[in-house]
Amino acid sequence: MHRPRRLRQREALRALVRETRLSAEQLVMPLFVRAGKNIRAPIPSIPGQFQLSVDQLVRECRALAEQRVPAVLLFGLSAKKDERASRAYAKDGLIQQAVQTLKAERVPILVITDVCLCAYMSHGHCGVVKFAEGRRPKAEGKSRKRSRPPASGLRPLAEGEYWIDNDASLELLARTAVSHAQAGADLVAPSDMMDGTVGAIRAALDEGGFDRLPIMSYAAKYASTFYAPFRDAVDSAPRFGDRRTYQMDVANGEEAVREARLDLEQGADIVMVKPALAYLDVIRRVKQELRCPVAAFNVSGEYAMVKAASARGWLAERPAWFEILLGIKRAGADILITYWAKEAAAVLRER
Ligand code: PBG
Ligand code: ZN
Repeated sequence: MHRPRRLRQREALRALVRETRLSAEQLVMPLFVRAGKNIRAPIPSIPGQFQLSVDQLVRECRALAEQRVPAVLLFGLSAKKDERASRAYAKDGLIQQAVQTLKAERVPILVITDVCLCAYMSHGHCGVVKFAEGRRPKAEGKSRKRSRPPASGLRPLAEGEYWIDNDASLELLARTAVSHAQAGADLVAPSDMMDGTVGAIRAALDEGGFDRLPIMSYAAKYASTFYAPFRDAVDSAPRFGDRRTYQMDVANGEEAVREARLDLEQGADIVMVKPALAYLDVIRRVKQELRCPVAAFNVSGEYAMVKAASARGWLAERPAWFEILLGIKRAGADILITYWAKEAAAVLRER
């Protein structure tokens, strides 16, 4: 009586009963902006992706719009770094200029800006670092073992210890978001994982007259090893320590729902889960429990794995990303942020 294969005999039949479909309309393409002119520099750790000067960024966004990619997510590469991340919220900062130019040239694409401080901080952390009195941990290069957060937040910092000052960071993050809004961003996406970021940004945006600007929050962002190629690309790896005192513990699922709920309560319009592949259960849970727009970030390491395997002939790249993106959508994501967005849109258009 039960023969599931009846509906698998031909593609037309399979397509008729297909439960999940990819669409170009849900794709977001991450792009990297750098200073200079006429630069399109390949990023070795994220093959097929480029650092773009603003003029090249405009070209790329036009091409993406033509492929019907609806949105880009911009990251800045800053050579100028300090301990207040002052280039993150400078009026003439890289992202600010990039957004202004895209809007002045009327490129028909939604511009989402990543709001964080790490790429603009000399120490590479996503917030303001408070050091023990007078003493700073030395930069450790690739080994990030020695400097440490305090064993207990309740006692004063000892030598060599540091702490990420949550509320001091909020002020700079809010300033950054407002400066992106003033430049003309269509959405802002805070990725710092401080407590209360969404509330602080929402209040600052409203105050600045941007009450209609939506926030896509990186609500459940894990302290993942899969960001490594990205950190290479924008030189944002922490110079000491790691991000585990602010990004989520990779073992937690329940907590992701609480994080996302907090962000919604503070005014987030879209919540994101990041990375995607090792967190499909989290995407599903957030979607089912909160019933709100959910984005998933298929991050650099996830992309690089497939690229590396396909370069060796071990995997076919196109079917691999197709299956991956479908899986993320099937888990419950409405929005797919992926380095394959351009290619995927082109392929989906062909069909
Ligand atoms: C910055 C940020 C990161 C990513 C997006 N925004 C890196 C990090 O948190 O260290 C990762 C994106 C990717 O790996 O594709 N806060
Ligand atoms: Zn950051």
